[in-house]
Amino acid sequence: MFESLLRDWDGEETVVRFDEPSGAWMFVGVHSTVLGPGMGGTRMKTYAEPEDGLRDVLRLSSAMTSKMAMASVPLGGGKAVLAVPEIPRGPARRELLLRYGDLIESLHGTYVTACDMNTGPPDMDVIAERCSSVLGRTEANGGSGTSAPNTAVGVFHGIRAAVAHAFGPDDLHGRTVAVQGVGAVGEPLSRLLAEAGARLTLADVDDVRAKELAGELDAEAVPADRISEVECDVFSPCATGGVLNARTIPSLRCRVIAGAANNQLGDPADAGRLSERGILYAPDYVVNAGGVIHLVSYEMLDETDDDVAGRLRRIGDTLGEVFARAEAGGVSTGAAADAIVTERLAAAGSA
Ligand code: NAI
Repeated sequence: MFESLLRDWDGEETVVRFDEPSGAWMFVGVHSTVLGPGMGGTRMKTYAEPEDGLRDVLRLSSAMTSKMAMASVPLGGGKAVLAVPEIPRGPARRELLLRYGDLIESLHGTYVTACDMNTGPPDMDVIAERCSSVLGRTEANGGSGTSAPNTAVGVFHGIRAAVAHAFGPDDLHGRTVAVQGVGAVGEPLSRLLAEAGARLTLADVDDVRAKELAGELDAEAVPADRISEVECDVFSPCATGGVLNARTIPSLRCRVIAGAANNQLGDPADAGRLSERGILYAPDYVVNAGGVIHLVSYEMLDETDDDVAGRLRRIGDTLGEVFARAEAGGVSTGAAADAIVTERLAAAGSA
């Protein structure tokens, strides 16, 4: 099974290590180093079969190449998966992460890691004891702190750009926005939108969280299973992936979709289904790049708050380019974004 996954993948390098003491498989996928070292987080997860972890690393590292290219940061795409028999705690976790740090260090900077599902800043501190290619450590250890507020700022600029394309002015005053998930990104995003005069409908599987924020922002809260059907100008998925699919797309009642969640489309053809319905979709990997911009700008490029703010604003400009390109070519916004990625990689590759 490993063979066919690897043969069908268009990336540069995969590293596979079986970690005898823990029974974990370590997978590192370096999809592209054309724009710089392959960067992406380390996901720790229990899979039914090791090849499910390999499949994840290959798919996710290729998505990171697209995200980096569109964010205009000097990095390529990578990802790592620690496919563990169970999520380790205490000394066993530390030992696993140290051995994993040795593995990354052996790649001499080809892959740069960060947090992902089930790994956080304290884990990055441990990995950094053994290797230098780590972003997202705790602030006490030189990290740049949570990226979620800047992800929210990037999504906010993306929403304004999408509103401008769909309605003319980018003014959010009086525009209706439905936010799905008011967690680390959705909450600050809702605050920015409310400050800009948007009228909000909020939902979260944690009902209390949505109701409390709605009360504070003079917004409406609806049950989590209803949010994608709310009539609104903008639907902003900020919870989980796969929310735009053959089942949900027919019942959407929005003109624009722009949100933080990764992998919003159930499958790539859903971008076409959205454009057939006249819904303007801001490709997730373009609009949610604020998180990687935060990490890379502060921790790799030593940039200032003003530099970071400028990069976040440019997410809006990039989306404008995607929308114009999709319209001119009569293709979905997803296809237009993918085409721009291909061009940027080709230009860098031949430079
Ligand atoms: P979070 O875990 O802090 O917040 C997610 C919120 O969504 C939680 O409040 C959760 O209760 C809620 N939720 C989960 N399933 C839901 C559902 N079906 N309906 C309604 N609410 C639901 O996560 P965070 O950091 O806010 O991230 C949100 C999304 O944005 C995730 O998909 C994440 O991968 C993506 N993202 C986050 C970045 C960051 O910097 N934190 C960067 C780029 C993408």
